[in-house]
Amino acid sequence: MTADGRLAEAGGAAIGVTGLAVMGRNLARNLARHGYPVAVHNRSPERTRALIDEHGTEGTFVASESMEDFVGSLSRPRAIIVMVKAGEPTDAVIGPIFESIAARVDGTPCCVHIGPDGAGHFVKMVHNGIEYADMQLIAEAYDLLRAGLEAPPAEIAKIFRAWNDGDLESFLIEITADVLSHIDDTTGRPFVDIVLDEAEQKGTGRWTVQSALDLGIPITGIAEATFARSLSGHADQRQPARAAFGSDVSSLGVDDDDAFVEDVRRALYASKVVAYGQGFDQIVAGSNEYGWDIDPGALATIWRGGCIIRARFLNRIREAYDDGSRPSLLMAPPIAGRPPPGPARQLRRPHLQARRSRWLLPRRVGR
Ligand SMILES: NC(=O)c1ccc[n+]([C@@H]2O[C@H](COP(=O)([O-])OP(=O)(O)OC[C@H]3O[C@@H](n4cnc5c(N)ncnc54)[C@H](OP(=O)(O)O)[C@@H]3O)[C@@H](O)[C@H]2O)c1
Repeated sequence: MTADGRLAEAGGAAIGVTGLAVMGRNLARNLARHGYPVAVHNRSPERTRALIDEHGTEGTFVASESMEDFVGSLSRPRAIIVMVKAGEPTDAVIGPIFESIAARVDGTPCCVHIGPDGAGHFVKMVHNGIEYADMQLIAEAYDLLRAGLEAPPAEIAKIFRAWNDGDLESFLIEITADVLSHIDDTTGRPFVDIVLDEAEQKGTGRWTVQSALDLGIPITGIAEATFARSLSGHADQRQPARAAFGSDVSSLGVDDDDAFVEDVRRALYASKVVAYGQGFDQIVAGSNEYGWDIDPGALATIWRGGCIIRARFLNRIREAYDDGSRPSLLMAPPIAGRPPPGPARQLRRPHLQARRSRWLLPRRVGR
């Protein structure tokens, strides 16, 4: 049976069942009888044909003989019930399904079996922690540029857009440019100037920091970002504190705009490398502690597409792991040595400049 007009309009079957032995076949029939168009598939196509021959009139079945056609016959988000033999056959079926729906970079699916029991959740938790750090660093870079150049957000957006053509290319840099150029319809003001400067920290940042303390891994960038988010949520304390203590922050005194922008770009790149490196160190420590045998190079590969922290320089992190193991990712030649003279020195100039003007870094960005 093929898709009818109603199905085509809906963009595909509502749900799919693969594995049409006793359980899958009956579940598919049940769904169809209740009015849900159901995509069906089985490793051996004879079972699929038998289902359609014997029960095809009970509802709308969309039969496929290949996994690709099966996945393609489903509406999004795709819901698939896997009813094949438990254990290895189930893994064998799930793998290709995930690979076929995953983002792809250079033809490689951003999908890998990370490890047993909680390994995948642990990695996703640290991924989110890295995301906290990445966003904090971008916010600080924006803040330095805005104050240093005394330029409006739309001008800073152009800088981020240009950065996105180089080593810093990433989803977060790209959307930062979009956000900074966005003008609020109601007030006609830059959106970034009217949005409430309060965020909260949700579970994953906090859990990442808690886990790092347990594992004894210094993830200073992620921890600072998590605390900055907490601080930002305490507007009730910030305003009275400003009234009580005032501020003696002076202008950043930038005399060469281009050099300053380049200093901030390099510092942002170096800081991001440090934050990602610390997160990867935590994943390696967790993997060792819990016996998960996680391949960190594979993570750098799958994070290149389809996720929030996707970034061009993950290629370097993958190179670093391909290059052999070492006590910390930050000591790997592809990370420590590029761009010369390595991350540490890139950080100093904007930091010194900020400190001369009595700015605190790390910093809560906002009004
Ligand atoms: N039967 C029950 O009472 C019952 C109760 C609760 C839960 N379950 C669970 O429900 C699931 C389905 O049970 P079942 O009794 O209907 O079927 P099953 O006998 O456990 O498994 C047969 C199904 O698995 C497929 N299969 C086996 N190895 C495969 C592989 N390497 N790649 C792709 N497909 C493979 C078979 O495809 P082919 O036709 O191509 O061989 C067939 O569709 C199982 O996980 C089972 O543990 C069953």
